[in-house]
Amino acid sequence: MTITFIGHGYVGIVTACVFADLGNIVYVIGRTPEKIARLKNGDPIIFEPGLGELLKKNLEAKRIIFTLDYQEAIPASEIVFLAVGTPPKANGEANLSSVLATAETVAKNLGAHYTVVSCKSTVPVGTNTKIKEIIEKHKPTAATFDVASCPEFLREGTGINDTFFPDRIIIGSASEAATQLLLKLHEPLPGERVLVGLESAEVIKYASNSILSVKISFANLVAFLCEKTGANVEEVLDGVGLDKRIGRDFLSPGIGYGGSCFPKDVLALTKTGESLKVDMSLLIAVDQINQQARDNFTDKIIAHTPSKKIAIWGLAFKPNTDDIRFAPSLYIIKKLLDQGFTITAFDPEAMTNTKKELSDKIAYADSALEAVKGADALVIFTEWNEFKQIDLEAVKRLMKSPVIIDGRNLYPPKAMQKMGIKYYSVGR
Ligand code: UDX
Repeated sequence: MTITFIGHGYVGIVTACVFADLGNIVYVIGRTPEKIARLKNGDPIIFEPGLGELLKKNLEAKRIIFTLDYQEAIPASEIVFLAVGTPPKANGEANLSSVLATAETVAKNLGAHYTVVSCKSTVPVGTNTKIKEIIEKHKPTAATFDVASCPEFLREGTGINDTFFPDRIIIGSASEAATQLLLKLHEPLPGERVLVGLESAEVIKYASNSILSVKISFANLVAFLCEKTGANVEEVLDGVGLDKRIGRDFLSPGIGYGGSCFPKDVLALTKTGESLKVDMSLLIAVDQINQQARDNFTDKIIAHTPSKKIAIWGLAFKPNTDDIRFAPSLYIIKKLLDQGFTITAFDPEAMTNTKKELSDKIAYADSALEAVKGADALVIFTEWNEFKQIDLEAVKRLMKSPVIIDGRNLYPPKAMQKMGIKYYSVGR
């Protein structure tokens, strides 16, 4: 099939490469000439494991084509995916300006044949109906189309694997023709097919991200309790999570969830609910607990650091990504800078993005060990693999005082005690 993706962020570029790899011809439309030039040269722009190789392979096979020109891509395509951002507005609602503007441009460029316009962007319930109205208004008379919602569940850091091996494929549409075309495109992929209406598909995406956020905030709440009782949160949640009805996934406490999805989607669903006069207290509490997790950890750093010279390991909102959007690390660093802390940070992939945000307000090290030289405390924000079995004796030798404040529970507290490291983690 020939398809188009509009947008080359984490969702657009990963999904486009996967469908190209499955043998489709995939156009990717962007709006920044410099970025499109880089993509054409095989530079994926973002860091996502395996993406560079997949992109180069499909560029060489001429199955993926990057363009700024809607006319080159849209009339040639059977399916057009909207994969542009829906960042939060100041009041928490999703900003739909890009999605709606893109829908209008797609409409004006539709060919004189049938096209399915499918939204991958996370959009509040009712948005796809608006998209349909916009396309109806702006399309050439001869063009026929249907809209569909096909939400994406890939995680950054494991995006390619998640896209090749989804648990389920949600197709929301009132049109049989659109559903059949989307089923055909997804044929090689495993996973349960869930065929629903447009509105259900839109809500499935928000409800999925929200329940995962509920689990994380619940784990943090249990951690707050454990810290006051002598219980160990990891033991508690292992005991809880072994119940198949509950599961252990997404029950890791720490410094709260970040990233471009959970924080914004919890707020956006809250806003949608409130606008419909639904009591959204559960999600309001989830967001408050997430905030509290960051604040508690900030307090822990301030309370246990002998002086204000610290090292930080990990800036990305999670490992295996360079993404720092809504990263708890940035929020906490800004609080520490306000308190007069001096910070040297190391992250394997996210330092370039952090420099754009914080410039020289903090120092950057070339390695984890270099970062800790002369530090009075080490603070861990992201659970990169390379920190898990690092030589902690060497870390201790390089530091001025052996204090580690760990937001991701990487090390066993007893082993740290034996090594003479003052170790503070979460809920233990
Ligand atoms: C999420 C959803 O998982 C994915 O399905 C959706 O398509 C996009 O949003 P992503 O934001 O890439 O994916 O990462 P995820 O692995 O879900 O982690 C999100 C945040 O939650 C991170 O900050 C992570 O550190 C935090 N988290 C996750 C926890 O604090 N504890 C956990 O147990 C799991």
